[in-house]
Amino acid sequence: MKTAPVVPARIVSDDDGTPRSADYGDIYHPRSGALAQARRVFLDGDALAARWRDRARFVVLETGFGLGNNFLATWAAWRADPRRSRQLHFISIEQAPPTRAMLASIGRDAALAPLADELARRWPPLTCNLHRIAFDEGAVELLLAFGAVDSWLPQIVAEVDAFFLDGFAPARNPAMWDARLFKAMARLAAADATVATWSAARVVRDGLRGAGFEVEKAPGGAGKRDITRARFAPRFTPRRSPRVAAPTSPIAAPAGSAPTWPVAEPAGSGAAAAHVVIVGAGLAGCALARALAERGRSLVLERNADIAEGGSGNRAGLFHGVVHRGDGRHARFHRAAALMAATAVREAIGRDGVQGDVGGLLRLESGIGLAEMKSLLDAQALPADYVEALDAAAASTIAGIAVSTPAWHYPNAGWVDPRGLARSWLDRAGASAGLRLRCDVASLRRVGANWQVCDGEGAVIATAPAVALCNGDGLLGGAGNAPWPIRRQRGQLSAIDASSLPPTALPRLPIAGVGYVLPPIDGTVWSGATSSWDDDPALRPEDQQRNVERLAMLLGLRSPSLIAALQGRVGCRFTSDDRLPVVGAIPAAIAAEMVSGFAAAPTARFDQPRFVARAPGLFVIAALGSRGIASAAFGAQLLAAAIAGAPSPAEADLLDAVDPARFLSRRFRRDEAARARASVLPGQPPVGPIAGSAGA
Ligand SMILES: Cc1cc2nc3c(=O)[nH]c(=O)nc-3n(C[C@H](O)[C@H](O)[C@H](O)COP(=O)(O)OP(=O)(O)OC[C@H]3O[C@@H](n4cnc5c(N)ncnc54)[C@H](O)[C@@H]3O)c2cc1C
Ligand SMILES: C[S@@+](CC[C@H](N)C(=O)[O-])C[C@H]1O[C@@H](n2cnc3c(N)ncnc32)[C@H](O)[C@@H]1O
Repeated sequence: MKTAPVVPARIVSDDDGTPRSADYGDIYHPRSGALAQARRVFLDGDALAARWRDRARFVVLETGFGLGNNFLATWAAWRADPRRSRQLHFISIEQAPPTRAMLASIGRDAALAPLADELARRWPPLTCNLHRIAFDEGAVELLLAFGAVDSWLPQIVAEVDAFFLDGFAPARNPAMWDARLFKAMARLAAADATVATWSAARVVRDGLRGAGFEVEKAPGGAGKRDITRARFAPRFTPRRSPRVAAPTSPIAAPAGSAPTWPVAEPAGSGAAAAHVVIVGAGLAGCALARALAERGRSLVLERNADIAEGGSGNRAGLFHGVVHRGDGRHARFHRAAALMAATAVREAIGRDGVQGDVGGLLRLESGIGLAEMKSLLDAQALPADYVEALDAAAASTIAGIAVSTPAWHYPNAGWVDPRGLARSWLDRAGASAGLRLRCDVASLRRVGANWQVCDGEGAVIATAPAVALCNGDGLLGGAGNAPWPIRRQRGQLSAIDASSLPPTALPRLPIAGVGYVLPPIDGTVWSGATSSWDDDPALRPEDQQRNVERLAMLLGLRSPSLIAALQGRVGCRFTSDDRLPVVGAIPAAIAAEMVSGFAAAPTARFDQPRFVARAPGLFVIAALGSRGIASAAFGAQLLAAAIAGAPSPAEADLLDAVDPARFLSRRFRRDEAARARASVLPGQPPVGPIAGSAGA
């Protein structure tokens, strides 16, 4: 997906107060009122109350979020309905979103005002991302795509029950009523999906018919013109990609039918059963337990005596986004992840008293000058509440120390105690998540429709229809050939007594560059982290020295020899060869390598990750690398959605970028190219160890 700068709406007000777009010359809603239109055209038009009744999940997709009136009306109606679906997902695409200030200044119907206030409070920075905002303890999820509908619609991964088409008038805003848009809707439509729109234009009706919808006119009401309703009635059922056709959806059961924890506890055996067994209680595993809590029950198995003692066991670490020329997948992934991390960390600090701060972060820039930094931001129209380019003087003011280079300032970034964050996630999962410590998982066994999770003796620890490997590298003992190119990287952090540093050199916020320094935490300044490809668990004096030198450089201190690192911590992080995490459903071909006796169904296509067949109910979050604090929450939300078959909070090409199948696809394409060169038959599956091919 090619990202485009997000330019805020230009909204003016008509004499009677009706908001109007200065760009399109059209009004956002009829003069009769936004709420009245939302109820009459969209809520009634799609028969929401009757259709979401008693369901586990209901998914709405809207074109044109505008001022959010339709979302607010839907949320209010859902709240007021005792027989509402357990979860409501509302996906909306908006090219020119209002700023937070605009949103807060819109006059609202009294019934919507409190919800509108909450929406304005939670409004994200205007970046080209799919922003996830959870309301009502996660029961309501708003997925907001900022950008043009023709770029975003093909990127949405969801099964939609009801469409709201709410562009401006087709004559003024043809892009919102294009035939390709209706075709893209058909790809997303659930079997009984419906469409509602206020427009009765011929182009709309013909477009919907052409995409497989049965179309009818309905009276507009209150003396208004006709509106359009449609129902999905395709001549053939579109095939879903194997990645989406949920490998198993153990927790997508209808409301009330979800079994309570534990599902079944065989007497005497000590084995447990759950919807999802999570292997590993680091940031990834705990974030997943939290993300699944809104949907079902999980059991976390951890080999250590406590949670977050592995890579996630540092005293503190930082999180922030990135800026890359071209805004490719890395930049988009880390931006989405960092924005989600900011929300998660704020929540952990506010609710659970976890140590940390979302007060911003500076990344010193020595490669390019300020003018180039600014032009990079201008080209992408990245907003100042995501990142800004500061000269050394402005950076020094923010940092509270003398900074000698320009810097990127990420105002929604900061630092946190990862152990506290992991604990807070697990606590928030509450009774939905069980935890077993000192539980070393050695292997998996496929029995019927379940996975048995076994210890080193082959004894069954737990049984579940789904297992998520959140154990750092996604491998289990005796897996044979590593199924993906993930490497273990040693890292050392150093602790320096803050009182040994000049008070004028103590930063107010994290400073990153070559390495990083955190502001003093309980009298200690943490600096790091080194990287090496060995697994020496001991603190190394030369690494302490390197961290001290980095600290001196970042804080502008001339005499590093006077500073002593007293303690430190050694940990490891797992990194993939393309520096992106591995998140998603495990391909059947890889499961066959990992699990003895598992017979994989043949895969029809390997050329793109989304077409690769999956092992039922086997998932992974691995290789969070040196950005696990920043990316655990996002990775967990992606995986929870995949497990539950819910709309994905990431666009399709980001799912490709982190998909565990990407290594197979890469290998396949390379083999195909080699075969083509050697004139051999195309279409054969890739062969041989995948990890070896990538130099892991
Ligand atoms: C020195 C250092 C500094 C870092 N600094 C930062 C930073 O500033 N910002 C940032 O974003 N990231 C940072 N990171 C990276 C971040 O800490 C990691 O990416 C993150 O902790 C990985 O989380 P995880 O849950 O995937 O892995 P882990 O935290 O390692 O959790 C995996 C868990 O699985 C358990 N486990 C493994 N195998 C089994 C098994 N077979 N059965 C049962 N349990 C098992 C392990 O005991 C462990 O508890 C740093 C990492 C290091 C090492
Ligand atoms: C009628 S308003 C939507 C009102 C909104 N549904 C509400 O409840 O407040 C139409 C919206 O479509 C947006 N829009 C127009 N063209 C677009 C495009 N190509 N892609 C995405 N959004 C677009 C406009 O910016 C505008 O906000």
